[in-house]
Amino acid sequence: MEHILWKNDELILMDQRKLPGETAFVTCKTPDDVAAAIRNMVVRGAPAIGITAAYGLAMSAILKRDFDADCQLLLDSRPTAVNLRWAVERMRDCRNKNHGKSDFFVAEAIEIHREDIEMNRRMGEFGASLFSKPVTILTHCNAGALATGGYGTALGVIRSLFNHGKLKEVFADETRPYLQGARLTAFELAKAGIPHRVITDNSAGYFMAKGEIDAVITGADRVAANGDTANKIGTMMLAVLARHFEIPFYIAAPWSTFDLSLASGVGIPIEERGRDEVAFINGKSIVPDNSPVAHIGFDVTPGNLISGFVTEKGILHPPFRTDSD
Ligand code: MRU
Repeated sequence: MEHILWKNDELILMDQRKLPGETAFVTCKTPDDVAAAIRNMVVRGAPAIGITAAYGLAMSAILKRDFDADCQLLLDSRPTAVNLRWAVERMRDCRNKNHGKSDFFVAEAIEIHREDIEMNRRMGEFGASLFSKPVTILTHCNAGALATGGYGTALGVIRSLFNHGKLKEVFADETRPYLQGARLTAFELAKAGIPHRVITDNSAGYFMAKGEIDAVITGADRVAANGDTANKIGTMMLAVLARHFEIPFYIAAPWSTFDLSLASGVGIPIEERGRDEVAFINGKSIVPDNSPVAHIGFDVTPGNLISGFVTEKGILHPPFRTDSD
């Protein structure tokens, strides 16, 4: 089942907020709909929001809207994942090369989507080559098919390990408050028949101390030139724990996630979201009414805690320099 589908000049998105209980879809007819779908997490995950924005700009060209204004609208929808900017820049280049013919925009968005799946499969193979015997992997958030064009980044490596008979089990952090791990990663793993257990976010140290985790692999939203990496809040704690227990910690991400304009992670914009996502569970408040909440979407893992970066170009190590790294 496709979760990002371009059909008759409209974009049909699987509503990831409703999974795993309900498979529902949201149809976007304008770039405003697309920006709202990204902002409201109908679609999420760094590569997936880049692909979605590209389709949003194809729509902008078809509807003969102000293209630059729509680029800004989409850029403003979420701040941390640089894939969004990467996709918008690629669509801008497409306009410059093709004098604004809408067919070319649609073809470019479809190509961005296709390439992403291909890169994930390549990444999966590179990642699987890191291990010679069956391993248990811990992952955080959802870096699967749903977070990308398909197959996944960190989950792509897990899929490839499974296909090569080199996977014992996956521990999926539930990932409070949006529960991308419990709802989405577990959904994908169950569908693929991959052995897994969902754990609470505070369980990783327990299982690492028991020697039950061989490696941690997560996705990324933005990687700076020195390897500092923004990913879902909680990722940095895993990297610190992994260093303590001498467990390798890998990031799997396509080159479109690398932001070489930033020397370090200090300049990465970190999304803060509303109180209610933390304070309410199933519509019921779990926090006293007068208690404020800090809801930080991402943290930055220092590059020196990361054992390697699994990319479509192979396993890379910082400092990252040019496109030809
Ligand atoms: O807030 P989200 O769900 O968009 O956050 C997603 C993540 O942090 C993922 O790990 C990251 O985008 C990589 S997805 C391949």
